[in-house]
Amino acid sequence: MSASAATGEFGEGGHPRVEIVRGDGASLFAADGRRYVDLGASHGVGNLGACRPEVVRAIQEQAARLIHLGSGYANPVREAFVGRLLSLLPRSFGRVFLSNSGTEAVEATIKLARSATGRPRVVAARRGFHGRTYGALSATWRRELREPFEPLVPEFAHVPFNDPAALDAAVDERTALVLLEPVQGEGGVHVASAEFLRAARAAADRTGALLGFDEVQSGLGRTGRNFAFEHTQVVPDLLALAKSLAGGVPVGATVTTPEVEARFRGSHHSTFGGNPLACAAGLAALDVLVRERLAERAERLGRLAAPRLAALPKEKLREVRGLGLMWGVELRERAAPVLAALERRGFLAIPAGSTVVRLLPPLVIDEDDWDRGLTAVAEAVADG
Ligand SMILES: Cc1ncc(COP(=O)(O)O)c(C=O)c1O
Repeated sequence: MSASAATGEFGEGGHPRVEIVRGDGASLFAADGRRYVDLGASHGVGNLGACRPEVVRAIQEQAARLIHLGSGYANPVREAFVGRLLSLLPRSFGRVFLSNSGTEAVEATIKLARSATGRPRVVAARRGFHGRTYGALSATWRRELREPFEPLVPEFAHVPFNDPAALDAAVDERTALVLLEPVQGEGGVHVASAEFLRAARAAADRTGALLGFDEVQSGLGRTGRNFAFEHTQVVPDLLALAKSLAGGVPVGATVTTPEVEARFRGSHHSTFGGNPLACAAGLAALDVLVRERLAERAERLGRLAAPRLAALPKEKLREVRGLGLMWGVELRERAAPVLAALERRGFLAIPAGSTVVRLLPPLVIDEDDWDRGLTAVAEAVADG
């Protein structure tokens, strides 16, 4: 257990945590050598697992060549990374703004949309999570995340998720952006219906608003497709990515079309955005994603999970939801004791809100570890 002053969180910690010192694929190791299976991919970052050798090598080689370069200079690694990312996306996309995190990718999405349309309003969804900087937080739904920091950015509205009529009614000629997660992650793993995403596309087209998908968590193979929007063929105008994009190195990307970028007025910039180190890691990570067909693997392993999770005891369970390797097990009671029981069995999962156990294993997880993980979830739910 660790007691530390240094953390990436303020206000949410407080409980003792297992101290992890090393990782290898889906395995995380404590200082005493105990192995844990990571069923949370370190909050969705580790789609390729920890310390993927190709990513490690790319970081080492790039670090020796050039770690940082101002965005005013061209760089072949940055070009290659951006080109590789665009090659995975529909042809309509052609421009990428690089940053360092999910919240920055969303922030750029909001700024780009407001500037390109000259309109103020953003329509997002209830239960949505988009990050913690002011713009992204204003699009985020959970009151306890928002209230201590008010006043937030004006002109943000939230509609019920998967309610096409409510969404259609909320989008008007003052709307710059409709911002949605195709699969809501932090909000408890809720999968958008094709009908809802189609309604969002239609409402944006009807009013001249832009459609933005936040795939910071659902993107890059996680749901059984390279991008979750591919399940429905609804293509957005703006796409926010981060988390696993560079195999564990911080990076964010806001992808858009040349037409939208051409309408952008003003400037937006990040000192570290597009640094060669992150781009080299990103290029290596995308190569692995494609070469190993990790999206297909996520779909296959996800199919194994569906019946196992659905068979959890009814008296404990409210609902099981998921797609690919992104699952939410909503309990009738708090998730914390189940997470603790899992940890005692050597499996690290994460919550989504107070009653949902979230499973986001690395897409490279051993089939045997995944099978044992699902058994451990069943035991932990029964005990918890
Ligand atoms: C859908 C979504 N958007 C944005 C973010 C924010 O990403 P970051 O924590 O990298 O700022 C997250 C983080 O969990 C997320 O799941």
